[in-house]
Formats: sequence, C-alpha cells, structure tokens
Amino acid sequence: MSDPLNALQRYYLEAMGIQVWERCVPDQGSRFKVEGSKTGKVVQRPSALEPSPSSQTPEPAMEGVPEGAGNVGEGPDLLKPSTLNLEPVTTLDWQQLRERVAECRSCEELAACRTQTVFGVGNRDADWLIIGEAPGADEDRQGEPFVGRAGQLLNAMLRGIGLEREQVYIANILKCRPPENRDPKPEEAAACSAFLQRQIVLVQPRVILAVGRIAAQNLLHCETPIGKLRGTVHRHESGVPLVVTYHPAYLLRSPLEKRKAWGDLCLARRVIREAAGQTS
Ligand code: URA
Repeated sequence: MSDPLNALQRYYLEAMGIQVWERCVPDQGSRFKVEGSKTGKVVQRPSALEPSPSSQTPEPAMEGVPEGAGNVGEGPDLLKPSTLNLEPVTTLDWQQLRERVAECRSCEELAACRTQTVFGVGNRDADWLIIGEAPGADEDRQGEPFVGRAGQLLNAMLRGIGLEREQVYIANILKCRPPENRDPKPEEAAACSAFLQRQIVLVQPRVILAVGRIAAQNLLHCETPIGKLRGTVHRHESGVPLVVTYHPAYLLRSPLEKRKAWGDLCLARRVIREAAGQTS
C-alpha cells in the first residue's frame, strides 16, 4: 500500500476542498483517527498537532510547495499554517470554532490591526441569524457585533417586530475589523467564509437577515445593488431562506428608508411564520 499523505499535504488538499479517502489500517499505533461512514468506507484524519512521519523521513516536495514549507521557522508565511491543527472547520463544534477564529491569522493586515476577533453573539438556537459586514471600532474593542450606534438601531428594529437581541444570533461576514472601517476585501471575505458557514450549520436558523450590501452580496455571491436584492426572499446556499435589508448605519444617515427596512423585517418574520404553518 502506498504511504499515507503527510499532514501538510492533507492540509492543502482540505484547504482546496478535496476530500481524502484512504483504506483503514486497524493499527493501534496509527497516527490517524478513524471515523466510520455510512458507505462502509472510512475517512481518516490526522489527529491535531501530532507530528507527521515526514518530520523524520524526508519526502519529495509537492508540486508548487517548496521543500520544507510547513516546518516551523522555514518557508514563506503563506504556506505555513499558524498552527498544525488540521481539523477541518466543517467538523468543529461551537467551542472549537470559537477557538479557531480567535487564533486565525489568515489575513495578515487584519490580524495585525485587530484588538480581538468578533465571533458573534446571541442565542445559538435562534430562528433568526442576522449577518452584518464586519466589526467596527466599538465591536473590535468589546468583542461583540453591533454594539455601536448601528447596533442600537438594529436592536430597536428587532424590538419593533417583537424580538429581543438575546433571541437572535448576530454575526458578520468578517470576524476582524478592517482598518479605517474600509470595506472587506474579497479575499478577506473568502478567507473568513468557512467560519460563517459553520456557524450557519450549527445554529440552523429558519431565516438569515443580511444587513447591508456587503453582507447581501457576499452571501448571495452577486454584485446586484442592494435596492434590487431587498424586498424578496432568496435562498442561501445552505438552503436557509435569506432576506436582505439596509444596514442600520445607512438607515442612520437615510432615515426615510426605515420604512422599507421595516417591510423587510416583516417579510423575514413571515418566512418563519409560514414555515411554522402560521398564517399571520
Ligand atoms: N456594522 C456591521 O456590519 N457589523 C458590526 O458588527 C458593526 C457594525
């Protein structure tokens, strides 16, 4: 049988979304943890932080990966995972996900500027998942999304439809504050998206409310203006219905648009009620 992949090779395959299947060797001393699957096949994953045999026996370099990349203290930073915790994000539980986010340094500039990551807040069992853009200065300081003026307005909007902030879950496209409150870069949103996807899977909301253009366009993978996205029910790739509304920071500047935002929240509430078989 050919040698199993080493930990770094496996890391890159997983980062590219390529699932690795290998034959199970029922060996007590194996470095792989074994998980059963419904097909009778067995998926093997390296246990976190275990050294790979490659650190003892040199292996040929992978195409495009400089030899020695991944060895601590060698190779370009891009190719060096900040830790060798190789558990895929899609398998993490809530606490593990929170820890993975807190230690993430995928976006060098954001990691260097942030006070802390902002994971999310609220009821992990919520029907409503509110998704904004990125933490601002207040959120970066306090470690919680939507705590500034925009957050106060968001709370008021939620209360307007009978919801307390504690009843919903609130997160952002980015877990780190972009410096000078600039827009998230596409590569930053892409780097952060696995965390949000995992939050969506774990919360299992009945509706996603995307607040603002950045959240809406990233979640729907489009460049359509927000005025055209709001007012209808979309479906997020997770299958969850998604309603778009204006960002509360925009509503603070354009209060006449609050009426439309109110309509959007009512639409989202209707989605939940209809799914629950209620009529009003
Ligand atoms: N704006 C956002 O989009 N998210 C926050 O958490 C705060 C302000």
